Amino acid sequence: MKKLVNTLVTASVIATAVAASSVITAVKVNANLDKVSYNYDVWENAKMTEVTLYPQTTIKFNDKEANNINQDAKAITAEIGALYNGSKIAFIVKWADGTKNITTGNCIDRYADGFAMQFASDASNPKQLPYIGMGSDGRPVVVHLQKEAFGTYEPNGYGNVAHQVNPNQTDLFGKDLANFNKKVKALATNDYERSFVAEGFRSTTEIKDGSNTSYARIGYVGKGWEGTLSRPLKDAYVDLNAAVIPVALAIWDGGKLGRNGLKYLTGWTAVKLEGKTGSEELLASLTEKSKGDAAKGKEAAMNNGCTGCHQMEAQDAENLMGPGLKNIGGYATADYLRESLVAPSAVVVPGYNRNAHSSFPWYNLEDGKRVSTMPGFDYLEQSDIEDIVAYLQTLKAEVK
Ligand code: HEC
Repeated sequence: MKKLVNTLVTASVIATAVAASSVITAVKVNANLDKVSYNYDVWENAKMTEVTLYPQTTIKFNDKEANNINQDAKAITAEIGALYNGSKIAFIVKWADGTKNITTGNCIDRYADGFAMQFASDASNPKQLPYIGMGSDGRPVVVHLQKEAFGTYEPNGYGNVAHQVNPNQTDLFGKDLANFNKKVKALATNDYERSFVAEGFRSTTEIKDGSNTSYARIGYVGKGWEGTLSRPLKDAYVDLNAAVIPVALAIWDGGKLGRNGLKYLTGWTAVKLEGKTGSEELLASLTEKSKGDAAKGKEAAMNNGCTGCHQMEAQDAENLMGPGLKNIGGYATADYLRESLVAPSAVVVPGYNRNAHSSFPWYNLEDGKRVSTMPGFDYLEQSDIEDIVAYLQTLKAEVK
């Protein structure tokens, strides 16, 4: 009897948890979008769309305090608007954040609020989009990152702000420190903007070949942040000249010790370039809600041992034999979930970390290629796979 009650409760939760995915409209404008900031009039033309960002719980972070703070993190929402002209596309992002966190050059234990926008280098096959967390082998992404920084000074341009002066030894080094601080003040910039190409966390490479002409800004307005990104429709790494493009948004909350993988993330979200036609297949894939039966899928997941390796719901053990799936429905497409089940090595979750199960790696290297240790479930009935995909799509935190 107890089991039946459980099933009924689950079914009703599932019915309310699923909402249709948002589609962002990029409005065509006859305006210069080369260097737009959040306080520009041009944004009056934008149509704002609400998107939901989920706590990244795939990879466990290596910081006990941060993990505790973010243990039961809820999803957050942001508003996105987009504009485009003949050569550029620009985005504005707004999100609420009651605490304004800015890093200072000398602190390594405080983190800044910030945002990043991610673009797929190749979206021609909607069934094989890059892994949402920083791309994956053979499926690169371009990431534009901007965060509020307080006077960063990087003499060599590589992001190192370390210096050799001990601020406590003012009698010995006081003069050096005063000189250093004076120089920093003169040269420092609060514009942190960086752009990267990545095929997984470990491959993240800053674009420094001179080809990057993107322009991002961020500012604290009222009780939250407003950020903008303007970038070419086409550059050396991405071609966004299509009717629909997949874009993902990440937001960091410095007040919750967010940095690197500790962030909020949307799934690949469709941006429709107004006035262009085509890309129907991509749009369908980005907004697809599986027609499988989620309640049956939950049962199939239990019967097939998924929870032996994965934390799927909050009450499941977090044994780290595989990535956490608590929020997978928030940032994975149905097509990605199908591929994960039947061909685990097609995308191997990058950034296997030391906190994970020490005697059970997530992948092995075979001929230099990462091969997943997850068994493929291609032998399951098609209907079982569809039910599991429908169930996985329900796994996501509520909005705060
Ligand atoms: C023997 C352990 C094991 C079992 C059993 C297992 N998995 Fe996995 N799974 C992994 C590992 C390890 C990874 C990470 C490597 C990779 O990407 O394939 C993974 C990755 C995934 C991913 C991709 C996660 C992401 O963040 O992109 C999904 C989805 C997934 N598994 C679902 C399932 C489902 C559903 C089942 C049951 C039908 C299952 N797994 C059974 C070990 C397992």
